[in-house]
Amino acid sequence: MLSENITINSAGHLCFAGHDVCELAQRFGTPLYLMDEGRIRENCRVYLNAFRKNFGENAMPAYASKAASFRRIYEIMREEGMGIDVVSSGEIFTAVKAGFPMEKSMFHSNNKTDADIRYAISCGVGCFVVDGEDELLRLEQIAAEQGHTQRILLRLTPGIDPHTYEAINTGRVDSKFGTAIETGQAMPLIRLALEQKHIELAGFHCHVGSQVFEEDVFQRTANIMVGFMAEVRDELGFTAKILNLGGGYGVRYVESDPAADIGARIGEVAEHIRAVAQKHDFPMPFIVMEPGRSIVADAGMTVYQVGAVKRIPGYKNYVSIDGGMGDNPRYALYGAKYTVLSGNRALEEADFPCDLVGRCCESGDIIQPEILLPSATCRDDIVCVCTTGAYNYSMASNYNRVPRPPIVMLRDHDAYVAVRRETLEDIAALDV
Ligand code: LLP
Repeated sequence: MLSENITINSAGHLCFAGHDVCELAQRFGTPLYLMDEGRIRENCRVYLNAFRKNFGENAMPAYASKAASFRRIYEIMREEGMGIDVVSSGEIFTAVKAGFPMEKSMFHSNNKTDADIRYAISCGVGCFVVDGEDELLRLEQIAAEQGHTQRILLRLTPGIDPHTYEAINTGRVDSKFGTAIETGQAMPLIRLALEQKHIELAGFHCHVGSQVFEEDVFQRTANIMVGFMAEVRDELGFTAKILNLGGGYGVRYVESDPAADIGARIGEVAEHIRAVAQKHDFPMPFIVMEPGRSIVADAGMTVYQVGAVKRIPGYKNYVSIDGGMGDNPRYALYGAKYTVLSGNRALEEADFPCDLVGRCCESGDIIQPEILLPSATCRDDIVCVCTTGAYNYSMASNYNRVPRPPIVMLRDHDAYVAVRRETLEDIAALDV
């Protein structure tokens, strides 16, 4: 199986985190997002333990909550002792509702509105990750009005290409995010930040991309960032205390994806940073990483009910399910790969080639093309899509006015609703 939390029981049903998905479908309805709470916590602990082991107290993993943002997940992050990365007032609001200690939050975005800035300050966000000069100057102005000093990191683009897909490739010089080192724009921005009275520059941030498998990406990034931090010290007399390397470790969506040993990788990255720091005679900075996908992706599964099987002889076959691009837009957006498994025919041979498609009025509403399901697959069957914990619920929409599915969390023998199913009333609730 793709992941240890996926098994098959004696009834021939697929199980997720030890729970029969057909029973869950009966009990909670479909489509249904499942999340394995134990797996989320284990994934956090991989980072927490590797950080403690390799950096001591001088580091913090921060969950990139854009991957899956709802109140319960921030409670889990609080309980596990993780930091968080937030990117909007909505994520901040949700984290505050969960009682998350906001001094452990980092606020990103390449365009924080004045309202976002005011709201984040009022919620005690620990660190703004400032994208560029416009934001820097406005933050100074608002912080001054409020008699507040805001701690920040400056987001820099190190000019690294992590070779992932284009839409999530962010570290290159021509990225919309951050300020480039290569163009000479970073140094004057740092000078400007140091001149501000209500801003405390604590260090630098970078994020080179997502779903990254290249082994040495963080090492190459660290070379540039630590080297530049030493330059900044030599030129401006400013020694940065924090280095945030962003997120990005890839996860397995299909059997052919490699399994990254994140704990071991962090050890190698730590060793490398230490060596580069030593080379530049630079003190070891406080290290932050911002994993999103690798915390929640394999803790998620989506359960659907089949509505139609269409065979077009000599052409192709379609299996239509009761969800689609509204609850999972990732194939439509990125051509993302997924593993699809039958829920109620888990022991039957999967030899029926088909496209798994959604119910939206649009041909591009494909969850996954060219998959194999058991040939007896028919209306009312249960079909599951694996590894949907990251960027599925958080990117879901109400396209075609289809209500979004609930999130049911699985904890040992317990299954509980963390986000309830949207109703038709919810769908029309904003119409005035
Ligand atoms: N830090 C920053 C500044 C980021 O922009 C991101 C992701 C992360 C951390 C977390 O990266 P991760 O560990 O999850 O790879 N919607 C796309 C992914 C967009 C990623 C955006 N930034 C998808 O579904 O693949």
